[in-house]
Amino acid sequence: EKQGFKHFMLKEIHEQPGVVRASLEAYFNPGESTESPINLGLPADLYTDLEQIQIVACGTSWHAALIGKYLLEQLAGISTQVHYASEYRYAPSPVTANTLIIGVTQSGETADTLAALTMEKERRQGKEAKYQARLLGITNRPESSLGHLVPHIISTLAGIEIGVAATKTFTAQLMAFYALALDLAARRQTVSKDILEKIINGLRQIPKEIEATLETQERLTEQLAHEFAETQDFIFVGRGINFPIALEGALKLKEISYIHAEGYPAGEMKHGPIALLDAKVPVVAIAIPGSVYEKVISNAQEAKARDSRLIGVTPVNDGEAAEIFNDLLPVSHVEELLSPILTVVPLQLLAYHIAARRGLDVDQPRNLAKSVTVE
Ligand code: M6R
Repeated sequence: EKQGFKHFMLKEIHEQPGVVRASLEAYFNPGESTESPINLGLPADLYTDLEQIQIVACGTSWHAALIGKYLLEQLAGISTQVHYASEYRYAPSPVTANTLIIGVTQSGETADTLAALTMEKERRQGKEAKYQARLLGITNRPESSLGHLVPHIISTLAGIEIGVAATKTFTAQLMAFYALALDLAARRQTVSKDILEKIINGLRQIPKEIEATLETQERLTEQLAHEFAETQDFIFVGRGINFPIALEGALKLKEISYIHAEGYPAGEMKHGPIALLDAKVPVVAIAIPGSVYEKVISNAQEAKARDSRLIGVTPVNDGEAAEIFNDLLPVSHVEELLSPILTVVPLQLLAYHIAARRGLDVDQPRNLAKSVTVE
């Protein structure tokens, strides 16, 4: 069933263009609506007069939620907070009847996420109107416990994921958040029709851009893995919509290769972590032209001045970037807003090839399970 791939994780990384295609087909059609080009099958009253969104999730799903926050705030103008489910369940935020609470879990079985949502459901049963928040789940398994717990679900379309490291389910969650944020933006008219159309057309190009990225990155990441297989620490930096991708790149590396890795918003390095840097600590910087490109490049320069080897996830043909970085993991030129779906791919491959090179059990890393059903 690995279809010629050495591990499920690698197969699942390569399935991502198909996951994006399936999501585009399922979500991005207007159905009966004249208000929005997106159809998530959710009742209109879930959206009415929304004032704030609270998202609860763990691990990679929490990273997808951070990108969701960026999209919901920047496109739909709705104030959004993202919580670790394990924290929220003991310290919930104040909610109102105009709050939407979203639980994100690919398995639909993560104990902390289910507990946070159960707690919210119980708060709702108290008669006080102020606790009547609305509940929505985003999951790859609508038949799971989450599916029974919440009244509304967006099903992500990754198909079964076997590797413990989440890859294609993350991409599928991102697609769900693009659809939700754009649907809200269309209905609330926070984004013009032209811009909406431009973003959706951009999304339609993503599958072939991932294919191109996969093709060039296989060899490059394998080569880098060769050099970095014995490295002890890695730092990943990004800003804006790519900051969560820095966190995700670091999580992928630690969970399957057991190498210490940390993700930071690049601008935060000078507030402490920069003291860690020297020639033994490589820095992976995600630098995509747009609102924070120059800032990321200048943060990368600061790291280089501390002798760190710099690896850039950045578009091809960018002269400036090519000069600064010691190694390049090039991605295509895409809108900054859409870039996380592409920038995550080389980081998944880098983690995969480093772990494979170290001879580790990539699909079943030590101490981890596919679903974390205990608190
Ligand atoms: O099934 P979930 O999305 O709720 O799982 C959450 C985390 O346990 C999961 O994302 C974990 O961090 C992955 N192993 C990351 O690759």
